[in-house]
Amino acid sequence: MAHGCPLVTNAIKLSSMDIGLNAGDLLCPISDIEDGCAKEFSFRSGSDIHDIFVQRIDDKIYAYVNVCPHAGTPLNMEEGKFTEKSGKYFMCHTHGALFQISDGLCVAGPCNGDKLQAIDITVKNGNVIVV
Ligand code: FES
Repeated sequence: MAHGCPLVTNAIKLSSMDIGLNAGDLLCPISDIEDGCAKEFSFRSGSDIHDIFVQRIDDKIYAYVNVCPHAGTPLNMEEGKFTEKSGKYFMCHTHGALFQISDGLCVAGPCNGDKLQAIDITVKNGNVIVV
């Protein structure tokens, strides 16, 4: 669950992804993520690599799989930069799709109406924690 945000339905639990993480494991201290920025994580399961990002905005965090629903590319080009200039939307650098930060819904671009895959995380005692 995004800290301080409504529950995003159908979010993946990292602890159920067979990537060596268990509920309660620490991803990073929340202080490691600057306001307006994101931190990326990669996890290996067999030969598969799962890339996710955790975005911090004000006092809230949001986590998604870093795969655009249009053509399957990573959203970002620069490390930790997932939002467009205004900071109101995530933007895919490949074809410019815009996604709502709160739920990952694409509101403009070639995958309009599709969603980023949300990840269920929480913040406990100042740490971003696997759910
Ligand atoms: S791959 Fe993201 S908009 Fe096309």
